[in-house]
Amino acid sequence: MKKPSEDGPPPAPLAPPDPDNLRQRLIGLGEHSIRKSHYPQLQERLAELERSEARYRRLFENSPAGHFVSDADGALLDCNPAFARTFGFESPAEARRISLIDLYLAPADRDRFLGLLREKRLLTHHEMPMRHRDGRPLWVQINAEGRFDAEGRLTRIYGFLSDHTQRREMEAQFRQAQKMEAVGRLAASVAHDFNNMMTAVKGYAELLTLKLADAPDLAEYARQIVEAVRRATGLISQLLAFSRRQTPHPTLLNLNRLVTDMADMFRQVLGRSIALETRLDPSIGRVMADPGQMEQVLMNLMVNARDAIGAGSGRVRVRTGGMIADIPESGKNDRRYVFLQVRDSGAGMDARTQARLFEPFFTTKQKGKGTGLGLSTVYGIIKSNKGHIRVRSRPGAGATFTILLPETTRTAEVRAKNR
Ligand SMILES: Nc1ncnc2c1ncn2[C@@H]1O[C@H](COP(=O)(O)OP(=O)(O)OP(=O)(O)O)[C@@H](O)[C@H]1O
Ligand SMILES: [Mg+2]
Repeated sequence: MKKPSEDGPPPAPLAPPDPDNLRQRLIGLGEHSIRKSHYPQLQERLAELERSEARYRRLFENSPAGHFVSDADGALLDCNPAFARTFGFESPAEARRISLIDLYLAPADRDRFLGLLREKRLLTHHEMPMRHRDGRPLWVQINAEGRFDAEGRLTRIYGFLSDHTQRREMEAQFRQAQKMEAVGRLAASVAHDFNNMMTAVKGYAELLTLKLADAPDLAEYARQIVEAVRRATGLISQLLAFSRRQTPHPTLLNLNRLVTDMADMFRQVLGRSIALETRLDPSIGRVMADPGQMEQVLMNLMVNARDAIGAGSGRVRVRTGGMIADIPESGKNDRRYVFLQVRDSGAGMDARTQARLFEPFFTTKQKGKGTGLGLSTVYGIIKSNKGHIRVRSRPGAGATFTILLPETTRTAEVRAKNR
């Protein structure tokens, strides 16, 4: 920009830097000489400013990051469409009607963020939990700058954020998978030796039972040993199944048939005070899975449901159906799945239990009641069949376990039949 003094007559001598006076002169209300000689340049400057403002506005509006300006009390002064979208608002105008305080999961998270901003003034790549408008947690990565007044009080926050929830979830799943892998390898390496030793113990205990036919008291001790060995080898075979070393034999399977065939067994497990309801969709396709393993999966879910309901009465519902699911971690979109759902009316569980549910040896049951291997086995089986498992639960509101297995395609069916 040329300085006005380089063209036309020099402007009137500058008045002392009184802002009101200056403004009056700039907008052309001052001495008529200024108005006449500088009006075109001022207009040009104004147009330039407007263009620049529009350019930056466009950048702000179209940025994929969620930009915002807020005050220290949580009032949102401005935000762009990406910010509104991240939290589930229709538009920036709608987002501006709320207080940012409502977008935190816990007040302590906001206090921590403000504390850090006051201390560092500039935060980069800061990750923190926030809340989608529908209540679900979001992990955001935020870059923010604090502006302060002369007394050092935080007055404005300028920042932008992006949603990292999916990345966080994938990382958690990856860590989980690694942990399971490690335990699986460990289990497989001890299981073989352990089984050999148990065979010896069982053999000698059985011999003792025979030899002690005349001493029933002692024979009973020997029988107890045999029984303990049976439980121990059962545990080991669960460990092996979990470690995926037990070679499964996947076949074409109709999950409705499986549930119908097992219904009597389910009723026995559940007992009389728990009602069993089945809702099987006759149109489901078939899946490739080992029937024995799938029985194990269902039995584990049933026993857990029974334990969650406890002594009182309750109900368990088993449902099947087909669905198209978009599962990010599978890398394939819009695949057809068959789902198998077990829902109980039991005690449900909190987020802490849900986070550790599939960990081997994680149990909330009394010593001797649970080994904590049930769901980790289920997880291992479902994963080895390229399936997925989801859980929804709240304390006091029961639990729903949904297993998704890929529906077989026509070519896979033909291949399986020709094998
Ligand atoms: N349907 C359910 N409702 C409420 N909590 C459940 C349910 N299923 C599992 N859980 C919780 O998950 C934990 C782990 O389950 P898992 O089946 O892996 O082990 P377990 O049942 O404790 O022991 P195991 O199955 O080896 O006998 C349980 O201890 C319980 O806290
Ligand atoms: Mg269990």
